[in-house]
Amino acid sequence: MHEDIETIVLTEAEIRARITELGDEISRDYGDEPILLVAVLRGAALFIADLARSISSPVEIDFMAVSSYGSSTKSSGVVRIIKDLDESLEGRHVLVVEDILDTGLTLKYLLKNLASRGPKTLEVITLLSKQGKQRVPISCKYIGFDVPDEFVVGYGLDYAERYRNLPYIGILKPAVYSE
Ligand code: IMP
Repeated sequence: MHEDIETIVLTEAEIRARITELGDEISRDYGDEPILLVAVLRGAALFIADLARSISSPVEIDFMAVSSYGSSTKSSGVVRIIKDLDESLEGRHVLVVEDILDTGLTLKYLLKNLASRGPKTLEVITLLSKQGKQRVPISCKYIGFDVPDEFVVGYGLDYAERYRNLPYIGILKPAVYSE
């Protein structure tokens, strides 16, 4: 385990097993209909890579980037599109791939924006959902795991751009924040 990690919340094996289940569920739901997976960078990059490989329906992927926390651990609610999609959403089955649903502010803004582009369907999958935290109601079709309301890192999630490459998801030691 990395020396900055206090506790592992989800192991690599648990994440892998759940993504296989999610992929099966999505493949059943969409069948042969093509899906456009839209990941929100950068946190969801690892998740979309593994998720895409677990889906048997035809899949395309596209990315967008929005401004997030910077190096702080509290949600600002300020959302800015830094990189927009390359694909048109008109008439397509769009599945937004998120790393973690915290206050929901980022997704709320994004969904409103994406819905205005005429997708046939627009759904959300999030790997993690912070329990009891959502300040704005978001309808999320697929949720990987409910996690406690603590700041987590690993498997794409960062603190000050670090720890994204950890294969598991964990909680940092308090000392790391004061360094
Ligand atoms: P929301 O707008 O509060 O739902 O925040 C969503 C974004 O904040 C996520 O996509 C993450 O990039 C980031 N975020 C929220 N909670 C965490 C966390 O515990 N660890 C790392 N990033 C987080």
